[in-house]
Amino acid sequence: MHPLLEKLAEARKLSLEEWSRLLACHRELLHEAGEAARAVCVENFGHSVFYRGIIEFSNHCKNGCRYCGLQAENSQRTRMRLTESEILDACREGFSNGVMTFVLQSGEDAYYTDERLVPLLRHIREEFPDCAVTLSIGERGSESLKSLFAAGARRYLLRHETANPLLYRDLHGARQSFWERIHCLYTLKAIGYQTGCGMMIGVPGQKLSDIALDLQFIQAFRPEMLGIGPFIPNSQTEFAGCSPGDAELTLYVMSLCRLLLPRVLLPATTALRTLIPEGLARALLHGCNVVMPSLTPGPMKNNYKLYDKSTEQRTLATTLEEFQAEIRPMGYSLVRRRGDFSPDKEGES
Ligand code: 5AD
Repeated sequence: MHPLLEKLAEARKLSLEEWSRLLACHRELLHEAGEAARAVCVENFGHSVFYRGIIEFSNHCKNGCRYCGLQAENSQRTRMRLTESEILDACREGFSNGVMTFVLQSGEDAYYTDERLVPLLRHIREEFPDCAVTLSIGERGSESLKSLFAAGARRYLLRHETANPLLYRDLHGARQSFWERIHCLYTLKAIGYQTGCGMMIGVPGQKLSDIALDLQFIQAFRPEMLGIGPFIPNSQTEFAGCSPGDAELTLYVMSLCRLLLPRVLLPATTALRTLIPEGLARALLHGCNVVMPSLTPGPMKNNYKLYDKSTEQRTLATTLEEFQAEIRPMGYSLVRRRGDFSPDKEGES
């Protein structure tokens, strides 16, 4: 094995300069890193793949992320929210198909005060006591995050987006603060959430040196979950004409992250599966162990597009069958488990 990959697999710590060197060889090392990452993943999770049902419940957003179709500036988008009963129906559909984790995702929507979210979370926890709830609703203050935790949310996804403060400012403008985002991530961890960070690969303005900073941040932060996907342009944003991120580089970064954090929950992201048809299979071969099919009902799905993607509507049951069919020949299978993070194999739920 390449000496730096070996060092990564053993020491699980590299210097910024070493990360940069590994990234510079991404084409040559893609296969080797993938093999090593897959071996680590199989050692830790066997051939099990966890699945989470994602419910996109509001596309209102106060932020202006230049890459994202939900940005407040996008006036072509029909804004909508699911009602509480629509959200619960989506959970029921998921649960009857074996989903044990509900991921509630939205733009940063001020309508969802704690007064609205807490009863919803309580209701989900009562009706599905064996299931986990993951929130992906943007930055919130620590009191709010504590209330949501007390109401039963145990996991939180908040991609850091980039670990370079200058690129962060360029992508998000002055309304959002890099340091507040990082602070929010550390708050989540301190409260006790299983916390996910992550970034896109190939977002306009990003260089390999920025990805090296991301890897260094991930190494320091040690997230329990990690979302990494290629940037895909959205035709309703100023990045409409930009090229998408490189799928191979995305797979390579996923592999490096598996070597860095053997137990991390690492999804084969929808963006990667959108960009390349064999995205799920290739992601598993590069160290991923989670997939997040959508539970979002039709009308919202059509209006919840962070990036351009087809709107074909398949039921969750069909999607899960397709996933199984794709991964079974490789010896993998979807497993009906909560799949919480645990630092060692024995603690796995
Ligand atoms: N392409 C790919 N991923 C995107 N996201 C937002 N916009 C895009 C895009 N155009 C990602 C961001 C965000 C997550 C929910 O989706 O990283 O954190």
